[in-house]
Amino acid sequence: MKIAMIGSGYVGLVSGACLADFGHEVTCVDKAVDKIEALKRGEIPIFEPGLDQLVATNVKAGRLSFTTDLAGPVGEADVVFIAVGTPSRRGDGHADLSYVYGCAREIAAAVKGFTVVVTKSTVPVGTGDEVERIIRDTNPAADVVVVSNPEFLREGAAIGDFKRPDRIVIGIEDERAREPMTEVYRPLYLNQAPLLFTARRTSELIKYAGNAFLAMKITFINEMADLCERVGADVQDVARGIGLDGRIGSKFLHAGPGYGGSCFPKDTLALVKTAQDHDSPVRLIETTVAINDQRKRAMARKVVTAVGGDVRGKTIAILGLTFKPNTDDMREAPSLSIIQALQDAGATIRGYDPEGMEAAKGLLDNVTYTKDAYDCATGADALVIVTEWDAFRALDFPRLKTVMTAPVVVDLRNVYKAADVTRHGFAYASVGRGGLDRDIKIRDAAE
Ligand code: UDX
Repeated sequence: MKIAMIGSGYVGLVSGACLADFGHEVTCVDKAVDKIEALKRGEIPIFEPGLDQLVATNVKAGRLSFTTDLAGPVGEADVVFIAVGTPSRRGDGHADLSYVYGCAREIAAAVKGFTVVVTKSTVPVGTGDEVERIIRDTNPAADVVVVSNPEFLREGAAIGDFKRPDRIVIGIEDERAREPMTEVYRPLYLNQAPLLFTARRTSELIKYAGNAFLAMKITFINEMADLCERVGADVQDVARGIGLDGRIGSKFLHAGPGYGGSCFPKDTLALVKTAQDHDSPVRLIETTVAINDQRKRAMARKVVTAVGGDVRGKTIAILGLTFKPNTDDMREAPSLSIIQALQDAGATIRGYDPEGMEAAKGLLDNVTYTKDAYDCATGADALVIVTEWDAFRALDFPRLKTVMTAPVVVDLRNVYKAADVTRHGFAYASVGRGGLDRDIKIRDAAE
């Protein structure tokens, strides 16, 4: 099949490369000339494991190409994907659909023959109706069907998620879309990934409901972690204990500094707004959003407590800046709020991240960026693990002790067992493991 992918950002690029790998002929389109030129040279603008190789292989095979021209590839395509950004609109939290609608107008003017137009971008319920209306208004002769096909890709694992999905959700209003959409995903379908056809609005809501549920699940275990610290229980065992119940499931029950990233914060907020607009508030999600916001500042307080109640004049080393490992994405990263709060309290910050430092430099002032964990820890009064990169899972604690001013580790991702760290003479605080003496002593000392 001939596919045009409009938008060569994270979702567009991964989806385009994977679809080309299935054997389709894919053209990735983007307005950003620099980005397209870089892609043509084989440079991948984002960090995603395996993507450079996947792009190179498919470009070489002649199945994947890049252009800034929308009309050409859309005119030839059987299926056009819209994968442009839908950021939170400044001020009101609604998803900003101007790129999607702009794209719909351009597609309308360029389509030739029967074409399936698919929104892959995360869009609020009813956007498919509006895209269809825009296309019909712009070009009444256009023979199109508009489909919703949300992505469920995790950054850092996106290629695997695309190729081995739990399910593929396809929202259609016109039966003519069924056959071409089945064809697009045939390689996955043959791998038994369930293809779930629904109404278009239902499909749009599935995406938001899914992400909101996961955000709520994380927030639930984070609140349990706080309670564990109070009552002397261990949140990892609680997570294991409840997760083994098949109805609950063990994934997304890692307590930590709160969720971040390009999806959960934006999508939960957009769902809250949509629900309010339809006079059917989703109070669980409203509360989830509020708790997650507060949590990041609470993590900064945890660090302050760990160094004895006052960070003025102290140096804090932050390991991991991105919102999660295996990405260079700093969007809504918990590190941003934690560092800001620590700076407001008077701390000097040193930071290290394997991939995120370039992006971080544009977002954080007055941080000293360092070359590795040990350089970062040098002269620090506490070492804080904010993102669980593999490189931080086997730190050389004796070496850290020689370079740090005070031996204090705050592990916001529960990477270590307390004994792994304390036996080297460190004070250790983590998340939701109240059974650990040191956590309690530190807290009691502060109160
Ligand atoms: C998410 C969804 O998983 C994906 O389906 C959707 O399409 C896009 O949004 P992503 O944002 O890449 O993907 O990351 P994910 O791995 O889901 O993690 C999101 C955030 O939650 C991270 O900050 C992560 O650290 C945090 N998290 C995740 C936890 O704190 N605990 C967990 O148990 C899981």
